[in-house]
Amino acid sequence: MKRLELISEGKSKRIYATDDPRLVIESYKDETTAFNGLKRGNISGKGVINNRISNHLMTMLEKNGIPTHFVEELGERETLVRRVTPIPLRVVVRNITAGSMAKRLGLPEGQKLRRAVVEIDFKDEMLEHPMVNEDYIYAMGWASEEQVKLIKQYSRRINELLCTVMRQAEIEVIDCKLEFGVTVDGTLVLADEISPDTCRLWDASTHEKLGIDRFRRNLGDVEQAYQEVWSRLMGERA
Ligand code: TMP
Repeated sequence: MKRLELISEGKSKRIYATDDPRLVIESYKDETTAFNGLKRGNISGKGVINNRISNHLMTMLEKNGIPTHFVEELGERETLVRRVTPIPLRVVVRNITAGSMAKRLGLPEGQKLRRAVVEIDFKDEMLEHPMVNEDYIYAMGWASEEQVKLIKQYSRRINELLCTVMRQAEIEVIDCKLEFGVTVDGTLVLADEISPDTCRLWDASTHEKLGIDRFRRNLGDVEQAYQEVWSRLMGERA
């Protein structure tokens, strides 16, 4: 597969065209940002670990009937994925109060929810991803009723599967952020990535933060925390 021109560059990945119009190459970076780009930094080796973790999880999801964009890992940082038209929504599934939910509702972090919450936000960093409801989605033409039904169904199932895999690694999934897109042949698939950048992960017994929150909150040992997630998923303790 030939890597062609750069199509887009986001906070954590670059996307390149290939000689097949149905496929693109994602290349994971070590750079990271938080607080809408106000805090920037480099987490050495993050791109390599996130590439592995996301591919490992997407493969697990595919085996369990969730369509994803994942095709093949090409290298340490590079993965071949199906090209999608992104749906401009950020789906957050929450199991335990934290982050913007805790802030919005004035709740302490770490409170177990009676059931998982599927929150849908409009994906716009400048607007800080405002929460929207289905009326907004149809009024704006961001997705069809059929697509929203599938997105909600897939999101709950992805969260269940993710919680199961992480529990085996003694990691608690506080919440996770999912993005979907439509492939060239019209299939709705899970896109983007699932990694410690896009999920809040805590050690199941100590509640120590294991992902991007370590960077956001200056908790130190950021690289080690990413490595720890990967090692545990592979059945090793770092
Ligand atoms: P929030 O509680 O800050 O809204 O975050 C919810 C989830 O979204 C959390 O699992 C982390 C993820 N997330 C991202 O993937 N990118 C971001 O820029 C932010 C702020 C959160």
